Amino acid sequence: MTTKVLFEPFKIKSVEPIRTTTQSERRALLENANYNPFLLAADDVMIDLLTDSGTGAMSAAQWAAVMTGDESYAGSRSYYAFRDAVRDIFTLPEVIPTHQGRAAEHLLFSQVCKKGDLVPNNTHFDTTRANLECCGVEALDLIIEEGKDPYSQHPFKGNMDLVALADVLEKEKDRIPFVIITITNNSAGGQPVSMENVVGVKRLVEPYGIPLFIDSARFAENSYFIKTRESGYKNKSTLEIARELFSHADGALMSCKKDGMANIGGFLAVRDPELAAKLRDTLILTEGFPTYGGLAGRDLAALSLGLYEALEEDYLRYRIRTVAYMATKLLEQGVPIVEPPGGHAIYIDAGRLLSHLGPEAFPGQSLVCALYLVGGIRAVEVGSVMFGSQDEQGNPIYAPNELVRLAFPRRVYTQSHFDYVVEILTQIAEKADQLPGLDISYQPRFLRHFTSHFQPRHAFQNENQLCLEPS
Ligand SMILES: Cc1ncc(COP(=O)(O)O)c(C=O)c1O
Repeated sequence: MTTKVLFEPFKIKSVEPIRTTTQSERRALLENANYNPFLLAADDVMIDLLTDSGTGAMSAAQWAAVMTGDESYAGSRSYYAFRDAVRDIFTLPEVIPTHQGRAAEHLLFSQVCKKGDLVPNNTHFDTTRANLECCGVEALDLIIEEGKDPYSQHPFKGNMDLVALADVLEKEKDRIPFVIITITNNSAGGQPVSMENVVGVKRLVEPYGIPLFIDSARFAENSYFIKTRESGYKNKSTLEIARELFSHADGALMSCKKDGMANIGGFLAVRDPELAAKLRDTLILTEGFPTYGGLAGRDLAALSLGLYEALEEDYLRYRIRTVAYMATKLLEQGVPIVEPPGGHAIYIDAGRLLSHLGPEAFPGQSLVCALYLVGGIRAVEVGSVMFGSQDEQGNPIYAPNELVRLAFPRRVYTQSHFDYVVEILTQIAEKADQLPGLDISYQPRFLRHFTSHFQPRHAFQNENQLCLEPS
């Protein structure tokens, strides 16, 4: 029997209240946060779609594992459970836990890269790029052309451009310590990468002896897209698909705050025992002893279950359908989004919705502020605030697209929360041409979207225009 409604495949055992705020409260709170929702207190947010990182709900089984986690400094039982789960799913024997994904990035890059190197990736996530650049490495994005077009319906828009990669490998092989492929491709809309593409990348790097690393934060969502979109995988389980994916990799970096289904954690896993020994030496200096790597035993215990829970197909079906449901509703209301929707988020095309604003006025940041003002919803700009920079003459370089990401925390919100978000966005879209541009009044040296301050170019809203109290 098939039904139109697909319900959340879980029951709620423990709840957290959401504090409702009024628009006038939020206006003062946003001004106080210098028009950067990262600087708001989370208690002042009603629906928090800032990120899907570390914001998921753990299962009853995971909480039970937390209680039996082994906090031994060395050789903890929980480490072995975690290591065995990673070995089983990712097929990589040397497992090095870290407190989160960027610690794994820093560990690998600081040990393997040197100044002047070049690292190709389908698209570097912002911390990956920043950690490479911090080591003096050029981070090169080589996504396929369809991945740059928000409206292309290509089923694997996250793929690496194999022709461009072959060219770079031939010309720059001596500068390339490894190639990374990010699944799903977060910075390019959470779009998946096909098995065929991963195999293609491996075939290109192998003759040069260049290792392939997979940035695996959303490996389970990517495996589900392969199952449902790539021919030959319909009858394979997502676990089998994940194993096959990683069998082509020499190493994996993972932020377990996503498809680890836990609130903290990460790892670096490799095949080469000599490289692993070198990495563990440094790990002791920075993260901790190699069997805990900056995590508590209870975190490792929760992750050893979470990595499998993320691969459960009922869960993945619900997860991917939830994002698609919201995408359909927004498109029906004329809100432009990146199509088809990816695995963990909806990306609104703020450049198109706020077409009266050029990139120098940061349309994405304006939309992010409006979402908070009108509905108490927190989202993140993924455009020229996040990716903008300057050339050597000091001229601004803008991002290719001005997007706003609504990320979906795992197992946290239900359909009515998403219906509310659609309603608020519909109200904003009707008056999008009245939203002001913003200027940056303060910015830090790295990763400016986290802590920059902004000033709107004119009053953000006026009582009769954008003041729409949520009903
Ligand atoms: C693809 C990807 N790589 C790396 C990271 C960094 O991980 P963390 O936030 O755990 O440091 C993230 C985080 O969002 C990510 O999405």
